[in-house]
Amino acid sequence: MWPSIICLSYLLSNKTMLIRRKTFYIHHFLTEIHLGIVCVNSNFGSMELNEKEIAGFSKLNKRDKIYWLAKNFLYANPVEVLKEFAEYWHDNIEAQKLLDGFSENTLTNFPVPFGIAPNFKINDTIYAIPMVTEESSVVAAASNAAKFWLSRGGFKTEVISTRKVGQVHFIYHGDKKKLFGFFQDIKEELKRGVQHITSKMEERGGGVVDMELIDLSNLEPDYYQLRAYFETVDSMGANFINSCLEEFGKQLADKVRQNPIFNDAEKDLEIVMSILSNYTPDCIVHVEVSCKVEDLGTFDYGNMSAEEFAWKFQRAVNIARIDPYRATTHNKGIMNGIDSVVIATGNDFRAVEACAHTYACRDGVYRSLSECKVENGVFRFWMNMPIAIGTVGGLTSLHPLAKRSLELLGNPNAKKLMEIIACVGLAQNFAAIRSLTTVGIQAGHMKMHLTNILASMQANDEEVGKAKSFFSDKVVSVSAVREFLERLRLKPI
Ligand code: MEV
Repeated sequence: MWPSIICLSYLLSNKTMLIRRKTFYIHHFLTEIHLGIVCVNSNFGSMELNEKEIAGFSKLNKRDKIYWLAKNFLYANPVEVLKEFAEYWHDNIEAQKLLDGFSENTLTNFPVPFGIAPNFKINDTIYAIPMVTEESSVVAAASNAAKFWLSRGGFKTEVISTRKVGQVHFIYHGDKKKLFGFFQDIKEELKRGVQHITSKMEERGGGVVDMELIDLSNLEPDYYQLRAYFETVDSMGANFINSCLEEFGKQLADKVRQNPIFNDAEKDLEIVMSILSNYTPDCIVHVEVSCKVEDLGTFDYGNMSAEEFAWKFQRAVNIARIDPYRATTHNKGIMNGIDSVVIATGNDFRAVEACAHTYACRDGVYRSLSECKVENGVFRFWMNMPIAIGTVGGLTSLHPLAKRSLELLGNPNAKKLMEIIACVGLAQNFAAIRSLTTVGIQAGHMKMHLTNILASMQANDEEVGKAKSFFSDKVVSVSAVREFLERLRLKPI
């Protein structure tokens, strides 16, 4: 007990010291800014003042970038805005340097809540899952669904495959047969030609799995594609794949150019581009929940039976299977959960998003990613989801909170993390459909929304408490909350 209290108070005093240092720094910075603002004719390096266009912005230091911004864009209330920028800097200068390094032209940080969804039972192991999201109801919904399934067997999940894809797009004017025959002959040579890139990956169990030549000249004149398949084990593998592809492209063009079987036009093989594909339909995880219908319990405060709920839920999922308008929102709900964990673990959520939506229309119609069946008295809800992520490399090992998220999940390998992420997606989807088909979505959303509205109106703790109890059975709107606060502030209730 005592050691932890001493430890905590040491941390807090240390934090206070850091804050004092930062306050001093901000004060110093603001004084400079004031000078910069009154001193309209001063200039920073080579830049021109009062101009919205600038050359060499990235070469300015952070202070000068902010000065320039204040001069040219944030002139309405520059001091306040600049103070705010500075206030979001990390207390620790080294930590701030690390964050700055993740991007370009960094001025400050943009905090987004980091929350936890506890009680996730996944293949009989319990997890508390880190989620980074700005949408107020997402973590609550995931936690709620996790708790619901905790006593009903939890989530069962399994990685089906982990193959990634890359493409070399090229133009070849000539005899197709010759090209295809030649490609078969040099395939193994091409693989050997990237051994300097693949050897480390091979030691870890990955590498180039296969490659094929695809004729797309019926769609675009003389267009062919070398499609390569990769196993990247615990890394997302984007750099690895792109390096291999660029080398494949170079070697393919060289080999064709040097081979006498090709005529001059054929030798002029042009590489258009070499890049991984974020569509990974063979990097799939399956996740499902199921229980006897009678074990679902009752809904809508006892007004809806388990049986009624199960059929209505299945109907809602079927609607999202056939109607792209509904499917888009349905899948957005799934991605609310998936993205939050992908971000918390330092992975690329744009890649996961892009892939999910392409996968959702793999048969030509955009459909729900999840499916539901009520059969023989059993409710079953599942999805197969492509999730290409990593647990080594990139931000996963650089961002301190991404590292902490992975530790929280027991430092999973990429397969385990795919499973965890998919469970949160399904949980999120379950929570959304459950609300939609029972009490409606607004009840829960508005409860969370109320907190945000109150914060935006600078409500104190007492006002928040009173507002929450007042709105517990009323419709929340910005104007209703404003009116309530005005009345409260005039004459405390
Ligand atoms: C809101 O962010 C997500 C939902 O609209 C998903 C859905 O409708 O299934 C609630």
